[in-house]
Amino acid sequence: MADSKHPANKPQTRLLQPGHDTGSNFRSLSSAVERASTVVFPDVAALRQRDWRDETQYAYGLSGTPTTRRLARKIAMLEAGEHCLLLPSGLAAISLTMLSLLKSGDHVLLPENAYEPAIEFAKFLQSQYGIGLDFYDPLDTASLQFTPATRLLWVETPGSVSMEVADLPALNRLAKAHGALVAVDATWAASIAMRPLELGADISIQALTKYQSGGSDVLMGSIVTRDKQLHQRLALTHMQSGTGVSPEDCNIVLRSLPHYKLRYEAQDASARKIASWLLQQPAVAAVLHPALESAPGHDIWQRDFSAAASLFSIILQPHIPQTAIDHFVDQLQLFHIGFSWGGSHSLALPFEMRNIRKSWPYKGGLVRLYIGLEDTDDLIADLAQALNSLLT
Ligand SMILES: Cc1ncc(COP(=O)(O)O)c(C=O)c1O
Repeated sequence: MADSKHPANKPQTRLLQPGHDTGSNFRSLSSAVERASTVVFPDVAALRQRDWRDETQYAYGLSGTPTTRRLARKIAMLEAGEHCLLLPSGLAAISLTMLSLLKSGDHVLLPENAYEPAIEFAKFLQSQYGIGLDFYDPLDTASLQFTPATRLLWVETPGSVSMEVADLPALNRLAKAHGALVAVDATWAASIAMRPLELGADISIQALTKYQSGGSDVLMGSIVTRDKQLHQRLALTHMQSGTGVSPEDCNIVLRSLPHYKLRYEAQDASARKIASWLLQQPAVAAVLHPALESAPGHDIWQRDFSAAASLFSIILQPHIPQTAIDHFVDQLQLFHIGFSWGGSHSLALPFEMRNIRKSWPYKGGLVRLYIGLEDTDDLIADLAQALNSLLT
C-alpha cells in the first residue's frame, strides 16, 4: 500500500507527497474530504464484481473513501508496514485485534503494565468467551507462561504509566518459538522512536489520537501489518463490526501529519530537560523516563529506540502522602489534569501502580507528566513552585 513512483525515501519526505489517487486533473497540496455512506457503482456488473479484500475498490462508506485510504497508506508507510486499518479510537484498534485473533479456548499473554482498558478488554474476553489470560512481567522474559493454546502475545513498550521498556526482539523470538502472533501497542513510539514491524512483530497498533492528530480533538486508532492474510483476518472483523472512521477526522490527522515529527522531536528535547531537572529535586525519588540511565529498561530503549515521547512518570518521596501529591498536581498552573496526551498542552495526573505491577519497587506516589509545546523553562518554573508546596 506504500506510495510509489516518487524519488523520496525518507518517511518525512514521503509523508508530504500529495498522493492523488483519482483520475482527476485537479492538483493541490491539500487533501480533499471525500465523504460517503452510499458508494455508487457504474453498473450491475461492477456491483457484482466488488471484492471487499481489494483495497483499490470502494463499495460502502464504512470500508473507506479516498480520504481514509490516503491516511491509511501514510500510516502504513510510517510504520514500515504494508496494510493499515483505521478505527474510531486507539482502544477500538486494541479490542478489534484481540477479537479478530482469539477464540474460545485460546490463550493470550499481556504485560502487567499494559494500558488499563486493554487489560480490562482481555478480562472481558476471558469471562465472556473463555479465552485464557495470563500476565507477564515486562522486564522479565522468563515470566512468560506460554501454553499450547497461546495464540497472541501482547506487548506495550514502554508500558503505560510505569514506562518500563520491554525487550521486543526477545519477546518476538519467544512468541515465534511458541507459534504465537505478537501485537504491539506502539503509541508512545508513534512510528518515530521505534517501529515494531522492523523489530519482528506481526502487528503494530497505535492511538493516532495522540501525536499524529496533535490537537487533543480527534480519536483514532490504527492496526498495521505486513502479512496480507493476517491483514485480511483483521479486515474481516473490521468490516463485520462496522468500525470505520470519519473522513473528516482522517482529514484532521492528515493536516497534522506533516509536522508531527517536528512536534515529537521538540517535545522530546523539552521532556528530557525537564526529566533531568526533576531528578535533582529533593521531593522526587525517581524519574521514569526511558532516556534516563536510571530508568527501568533504559539499556533496551538505547538499543531499540531512536527518540522518546514526551510522556513519563515521576515517583515522589515515600513520606509524601497522597493528599499532598494531589495538592501538588492541583498547584500546577501550566499542566492540565486530563488523560489523553499527544496534544500541544502539558498534562499531569496522579496514578496508582502498586496494585497493578506485582513487583513494583517504588514506595512513593506516582505522577504521570506529559510535556506539551509550552516553553521548557516556564514548565520547569511551574513544577518548581508546585514542588515547593510539598516541602511546606
Ligand atoms: C498507550 C495507549 N494505547 C492506547 C490508547 C487508547 O487510545 P484512544 O484514547 O484513542 O482510545 C491510549 C490512550 O491514552 C494509550 O495511552
